Amino acid sequence: KKEPKRTLTPNEQDKLSGDMRELYDRLLPSQESEDRRARLIEKLDRILNEEWPDSDIHVNVFGSSGNLLSSTDSDVDICITTPLKKLESMHSLAALLDKNGMEKVVCRAAAKVPIVKCWDPELELAMDLNVNNPLALQNTRMIRTYVQLDDRVRPLAKIIKYWTKRRILNDAAFGGTISSYTWICMIISFLQRREPPILPSLQKMDGHRRKSESGETSSFADDVESLKGSGAANKESLGELLFQFFRHYGYEFEYSKHVVSIREGRLVLRKEKGWDPTDYGDKESHNRLCVEEPFTTVRNLGNSADYYAWHGIHLEIRRAFELLEDGLQLERCCEQYEFP
Ligand code: GTP
Ligand code: MG
Repeated sequence: KKEPKRTLTPNEQDKLSGDMRELYDRLLPSQESEDRRARLIEKLDRILNEEWPDSDIHVNVFGSSGNLLSSTDSDVDICITTPLKKLESMHSLAALLDKNGMEKVVCRAAAKVPIVKCWDPELELAMDLNVNNPLALQNTRMIRTYVQLDDRVRPLAKIIKYWTKRRILNDAAFGGTISSYTWICMIISFLQRREPPILPSLQKMDGHRRKSESGETSSFADDVESLKGSGAANKESLGELLFQFFRHYGYEFEYSKHVVSIREGRLVLRKEKGWDPTDYGDKESHNRLCVEEPFTTVRNLGNSADYYAWHGIHLEIRRAFELLEDGLQLERCCEQYEFP
């Protein structure tokens, strides 16, 4: 088997970076779609506070609507915060949304993170709502901080997310693959491990922390102004980074040995985390994806894909690499997967 190409020539990089810029411009959400998102938040705020006045209810966005990585067709992830405990059971929330014209209301009260899903026919937006899940707000704020630190992160992450959608590689809940959030952790970790690094570990870094309104110090460095540009010593182009991302996770990363950890900002050994394949007891666990959840570090975000699903994703990463290696075929790389 031939050794995969190690790098792109300057001309190849220019061509691929140009194609990526063009695609990125098309993927940016339109102003009209941003406006609809903002109107949805106001609308929910009104519906909830009219139903339960004086309950200190706040409507917060998280996920891609809050981390600068949304597309026009992304759903809206919403976290409702309130001391009103009865909302946490989700049933009264589902009933209220139904009463207010939301469609396709589904209440998953028993899920690991209980959610209500629905569709707003007026604003044409799908949403996932949870109640009192501050962790989701926290990790969204950290992703957004990483995105703001270097101008290459946003286009690179948006293009990889687009590729995962088109190839049907990002549906942890139904598809048995891995979530956008997991992919984003893989991208950030990759950028932390470039030489020189493009991103630091915000959780390991001392200082650069701001205080919230309530006076609490952030659990990660979040002062974007003072952190921006710390990866400027690395001059890699967008095209080179996309190429190296697929090369890295397609051929270099040792899945049987390593864990992706953005908290540590380096490769962690499965052995040192106690995620050694032998501890799982089955041969299939050897080649599984291990991604440490940055705040709840006992969680492996890679778990949503089983051995077979992961094998399929790994082959897709290699397919993407080979299409770029052989003539920089970005468009074919992202062509819609058709079930045979
Ligand atoms: P798109 O919806 O695909 O545009 O991307 P997204 O950035 O919204 O990601 P996703 O829908 O996968 O996740 C939304 C948010 O839910 C993430 O930003 C996280 O805050 C949170 N989240 C998703 N999956 C997990 C998980 O497995 N663990 C934890 N702790 N949070 C998660
Ligand atoms: Mg989302």
